[in-house]
Amino acid sequence: MNNTFLNACMGKETDYTPVWIMRQAGRYLPEYRKIREKVDFLTLCKTPELAAEVTTQPVDILGVDAAILFSDILIPIEKMGLKLKFYEKKGPKFSNPIRTQKDADKLKVINPDEDVPYVLDTIRILRKGLKVPLIGFSGAPFTAATYMIEGGSSKNFLKTKRIIYNDPQLFTSLMDKITETTIAYLSAQIKAGAQAVQLFDSWAGALAPSDYEVAAFPYAKKVIEALKPLGVAVIYFVNDCAGVLDIAVGAGADVMGVDWRIDMAEAAKKIGKKLTVQGNLDPCVLFSTKNHIKEMAVDIIKKAKGARAHIFNLGHGILPETPPENVKTLVKIVHDAG
Ligand code: CP3
Repeated sequence: MNNTFLNACMGKETDYTPVWIMRQAGRYLPEYRKIREKVDFLTLCKTPELAAEVTTQPVDILGVDAAILFSDILIPIEKMGLKLKFYEKKGPKFSNPIRTQKDADKLKVINPDEDVPYVLDTIRILRKGLKVPLIGFSGAPFTAATYMIEGGSSKNFLKTKRIIYNDPQLFTSLMDKITETTIAYLSAQIKAGAQAVQLFDSWAGALAPSDYEVAAFPYAKKVIEALKPLGVAVIYFVNDCAGVLDIAVGAGADVMGVDWRIDMAEAAKKIGKKLTVQGNLDPCVLFSTKNHIKEMAVDIIKKAKGARAHIFNLGHGILPETPPENVKTLVKIVHDAG
């Protein structure tokens, strides 16, 4: 077993900087597209043998130091009581979004063993054969709430913010249910064998810092605190984190994941020696030359020395158009950088 990733999570010294890539299993890989030709995305997520196969693809093809469970942050939300569909161009849509207290009252807290057995089975299959640690994941409560309220992706999160400002009771009751679901869901993933978990707060950076402090941070913190006794590393990724990073580091995670809009030197300084930093190459750099990729990656590795340890990653998910050759090159560059 290659433990470099887990050691870095816990702040132990490693021989080289471990690397994995957010959304590393996906459409940029021809091997993934070949499987997707035969099944739709949700069926793929819900078929353990296939989900395990696509989870393993980037480990074999790229040589990354960790695998991330193939699933989606919207899977547990569907089981809370929302109707989910994925559209080829428009992305995910919920046809019955949460807009009133009545909508929120109808939602249930999931029971993972009954509601998402395929996720737990995928983890069990993976743990039998994987040569690298397996990362489980969930959306952080605020990011999950944006999908539930907006009914899909959003540019300015107006419907979500309207509820935060005008109906705090509805917002709080919704967030409490999501938080409970997230704790149950991640605890079950850990019990099934996940060796680390990442909370994706992909849209928390859309909040003013003072709003982040009341509408996103306390719920992420509650999830992380509940997972602490289970003893596995928790990564808290906040996209567009620059304005809220000072607050986010207090959530109690072992690893803070950051995007590229903040310079790694500044992020490492804010994160300090108590936490490991993860990130933060702009996914678009993978469309540049080998020399430029190397220059940017080595610069990030140097700057991350201000934190207690570094896990190399992109600053957000890899783009579907990315040339796989360049991703392989990046992994080699990070490993060779020492
Ligand atoms: O390799 C991995 O990272 C594991 C699998 C994974 C997926 N989604 C698979 C996926 C993970 C960790 C996610 C997380 C996720 N899903 C997030 C948080 C991370 C982030 O990018 O901010 C979010 C916001 C979602 C919701 C989601 N899923 C959207 C908005 C979309 C449509 C846009 C898009 O990228 O297509 C998805 C679809 C999705 N999730 C795909 C994959 C591989 C593409 C589906 C396909 O094969 O057609």
